[in-house]
Amino acid sequence: MPNRTMTHAIVLSAAFVGLPFANGVANASTGEEVYKKSCRMCHVRGMAGAPKTGDKAAWKKRLAKGKETLYENSIKGFRDKGMMPARGGDSSLSDEEVKAAVDYMIEQSQ
Ligand code: HEC
Repeated sequence: MPNRTMTHAIVLSAAFVGLPFANGVANASTGEEVYKKSCRMCHVRGMAGAPKTGDKAAWKKRLAKGKETLYENSIKGFRDKGMMPARGGDSSLSDEEVKAAVDYMIEQSQ
């Protein structure tokens, strides 16, 4: 019995240690993947005031601030009429992955 508990603990901690590598440096996701995983749920229907993916007018207004501002607001979070959570609420995303997802949404909305 004690042996089995041990094995369990080892397998579990290995899974936790492995996680940051799987999500971070070794295996960066493309903008489309990040979008589908972490942004689409709000941006596809414009939930809570989010600029809808594909809504050219909405994105034109956002883009008027400059792309760098949009990147920064996506990474740090942004609140005007609605609430954009930092990194879309997915803290495992790198800055590059968030930026790639912003690029992807902009591409789909021009
Ligand atoms: C929980 C819902 C939600 C998720 C998930 C979400 N967003 Fe948003 N996002 C919003 C809302 C709401 C706004 C509008 C905020 C406002 O204008 O007050 C917004 C605004 C933005 C803007 C415009 C910011 C600006 O300065 O005008 C960008 C860019 C953006 N989101 C990118 C992303 C990216 C990239 C992801 C995925 C990594 C993501 N969002 C995930 C809700 C979400």
